[in-house]
Amino acid sequence: MFIYEKKLQFPVKIATPNPKLAAFIISQYGGPDGELGASMRYLSQRYAMPYAEAKGLLTDIGTEELGHLEMVAAIVHQLTRNLTDEQVKADPAFASYFVDHTAGVYPTAASGFPWTAASMQSTGDVIADLTEDMAAEQKARKTYDNILRLSDDPDVNNVIRFLREREIVHYQRFGECLRMVQEKQDQKNVYLYNPAFDKNRMAKG
Ligand SMILES: [Fe+2]
Repeated sequence: MFIYEKKLQFPVKIATPNPKLAAFIISQYGGPDGELGASMRYLSQRYAMPYAEAKGLLTDIGTEELGHLEMVAAIVHQLTRNLTDEQVKADPAFASYFVDHTAGVYPTAASGFPWTAASMQSTGDVIADLTEDMAAEQKARKTYDNILRLSDDPDVNNVIRFLREREIVHYQRFGECLRMVQEKQDQKNVYLYNPAFDKNRMAKG
């Protein structure tokens, strides 16, 4: 179960609305490498993890990603509060979003494609999942890099830098976990069996 704390993991206090920037940043809410996909990926994959350490890590990081999802929502909301019609009309990217969602926060990519579970995997195979998780963290870091290239608002960039750093920490922790998993398995047969599934094979060695 989850217990909700009524505060953000890192504070979001944006002074100046900027719908153009919100139209980019929404990608980390519902885009292919965003926080919704990250939390769903890890919180789904954890069930098939054959080792307690890996299960615990996926639960910890998946839960933290839900907190990041909330931070991205807060950024988008604060960037689009109290807009005038003129401000909406001035930015074609946000105007397209506005037609469907007004200033509601909706899980979509910056390109307009709505969030889809097809952008993530849960394979039931520990090596496949942890390798995907490491790639996912790098892809999220890349998206934050691109947002920093497009944004010159320090109120936004301080938060984005915090989120970017967390992706790097997650990448390191998944890397350590993958190494641990490989050490627990027979190195010669590391891709030939799945310890969550091939119980008989494990017993025979
Ligand atoms: Fe992450």
